[in-house]
Amino acid sequence: MNRNYQTATGLKHDSLPFRLYQKAKKFGQWDPLAIDFTQDRKDWGNFTDEERHFILQVLSQFQAGEEAVTIDLLPLVMAVAEQGHLEEEMYLTTFLFEEAKHVEFFRLFFDSLGHTDMLTPNTSENYNRIFSVELPSAMQRLRTDTSPEAIVNASVTYNMFVEGVLAETGYHGFHMSAAKNRVLPGLLQGLEHAKRDESRHIGYGTFLLQRMISENGDLFDLVSQRMSELMPLAMGLIEDNYAHYEIPPFGVDADEYLNFALRQLGTRLDVLERARGKSMNEIYRMEESEAGIV
Ligand SMILES: [Fe+2]
Ligand SMILES: [Fe+2]
Repeated sequence: MNRNYQTATGLKHDSLPFRLYQKAKKFGQWDPLAIDFTQDRKDWGNFTDEERHFILQVLSQFQAGEEAVTIDLLPLVMAVAEQGHLEEEMYLTTFLFEEAKHVEFFRLFFDSLGHTDMLTPNTSENYNRIFSVELPSAMQRLRTDTSPEAIVNASVTYNMFVEGVLAETGYHGFHMSAAKNRVLPGLLQGLEHAKRDESRHIGYGTFLLQRMISENGDLFDLVSQRMSELMPLAMGLIEDNYAHYEIPPFGVDADEYLNFALRQLGTRLDVLERARGKSMNEIYRMEESEAGIV
């Protein structure tokens, strides 16, 4: 096989994926092992049973979700590499490393509390549908089908929905609960890092989808159709999580999560729709702020 090595023409230093790669090298270097959970352990002892149940439930979903996205990313990396997008592949090496660290971070939190018996996220049918059916099947499809439609379907499911709606909503709601009550500082510190990493992941998905929509405007219809299919699962998951409580734990109710999830959906679709009519050059030079990257 004859390769056209990019080293002959140079790397696209100004392109958004390469800027993301540089950013990840700079900001993605936090170490979950360096986080101190001493105060978190003390706070844990002061929580009510309901509060502990709530935290274990939400965080076990996070933990399993991080594990799922770590396992399911590889087919996308392969598809992007096969199509010769070297700068994107270089960025994606940091993406997978960061997901692995998120898995480690949540595990360390549970370990620090002595909790090996965390709740299983399988208690929610909506959660199961997302992480055992929708996400793996969208990603695994790329092993045999790297058509634009398959890549769009995978990136919408992974980057726009699981990361852009579910994880962002979870981070927001959880941050409200813990920060408002000034508890769990170690957990909050790790979540801040993870959230920043996620902004790059979602930013990459925004770039990838914009690149594809700019080549074929009809793909935007697929984006919005896929998001409409998935959104009821997010709403259902939030409702499942709150079904156990008469009074919402930590003073944050389901509406806070539901409204945030809907706002996220609107933002994602608005940004992607803007790709219609943009030139490829404009997309490669997109500012970080436009893709929501911090
Ligand atoms: Fe993550
Ligand atoms: Fe992520």
